[in-house]
Amino acid sequence: MNAKSAVFAGRFSALTARLGGEGGDVWAVHDRACQRFDAGEEVYLLSVGDPDLATPPRVVQAGIDALHKGRTHYAPGRGERSLRETIAGIESRASGKLCDPDEVVIFPGATNAIYSALSCLVDPGDEVVVAEPMYIGYEGIFRALNITKAGFALDAAAGFAFRLDAVKAAITPATRVVLVNTPGNPAGNMIGEDDLRDLAAYCLERGIWLLCDEVYSMITFETPHVSLRRAARRLDNVVVIDGLSKSHAMTGWRLGWTVSSREMADRLLDFTSSTIFGCCQFVQDAAAFALTNDEEYIQGVREEYRVRRDYVCERVRAIPGLSCEVPPAGMFVMIDVSAIAADGSAFAEQLLEAVGVSVLPGIGFGDNCRRHVRVSLAQPINILRPAFDRIARFVAEGVSQHA
Ligand SMILES: Cc1ncc(COP(=O)(O)O)c(C=O)c1O
Repeated sequence: MNAKSAVFAGRFSALTARLGGEGGDVWAVHDRACQRFDAGEEVYLLSVGDPDLATPPRVVQAGIDALHKGRTHYAPGRGERSLRETIAGIESRASGKLCDPDEVVIFPGATNAIYSALSCLVDPGDEVVVAEPMYIGYEGIFRALNITKAGFALDAAAGFAFRLDAVKAAITPATRVVLVNTPGNPAGNMIGEDDLRDLAAYCLERGIWLLCDEVYSMITFETPHVSLRRAARRLDNVVVIDGLSKSHAMTGWRLGWTVSSREMADRLLDFTSSTIFGCCQFVQDAAAFALTNDEEYIQGVREEYRVRRDYVCERVRAIPGLSCEVPPAGMFVMIDVSAIAADGSAFAEQLLEAVGVSVLPGIGFGDNCRRHVRVSLAQPINILRPAFDRIARFVAEGVSQHA
């Protein structure tokens, strides 16, 4: 039989169709910039949130030591006891509420932790209420799980400050989960203790889960982070997500976790048993080491991002037509370009074409960010400086003239 005549008629799942092309437009500028960069062009990539800093060498060594010790086998489904005890200890101290190691579950990254948590809490068609700007990565998770995003907009002019009344207004009978992110990506906006406490109580009364993504918890500048677990009076409906990608420059190690009620942790264990089946032992050993030996390192990281944030904000302020709020936390600065460009997408497109600097169009984070572009602080000053020299030149020459 001619092999060509046998046409395979198998089909792909509806899930793959929902995920197809996810976020493609948002990343188009970045993808083009990467191609040019890989081809050897001097392109400045201010569009990614992967820290340029190295994983602390002592943490790398802890991982290597663990490998040499043969820590290369299956790990317990919830995660290694020593890592969960370390995280539970940190949680207990930070929240003032006792955290049991069995309330902690380890995942290969916060993304997987969020996916797993939502998988345990929602069914197709359920609604998740989320603030915009919203971290782009949630979009794909919502699509994969076939759940409806009920977004509510925070006001750019108010620094995207959290608004409890807006969350309450967005909640409907179909709402199963409210997902918040503090400090936030992209705006670095933080939710205050009172708002977190009141939101947790409001959700609890209505049988709604409250998920809080706190992956930027250690990258704060003037005011320390307040965890949802500290703020909430009762923890029954509360799930906190954190990880080492950003704080310890460990994006590639893939290590995140949830802290929740014991019952939720048990459901998560059931779920992960059929999805990830445990995380790398040596990565977990290195993570436990990182979390117990990181005070000085984290102080240095915070200071480095603060210096970069101040530098970027100063450069933005000196460029007529650009403006920004000074973010109190996180790894990004949102620049309002509406005085000189049709929108953030037009600005980002033209900026890359004209002067080889890649920034992310704000629209990917929500409609209320269409006037913005996001600049990442995950580049050293010696990259930020020439990049902003180019941005200044580009703006001075007139954005639309470059079209
Ligand atoms: C708000 C937020 N949550 C989660 C993640 C993903 O973290 P991880 O690398 O641990 O999957 C990111 C990454 O950019 C993020 O910005």
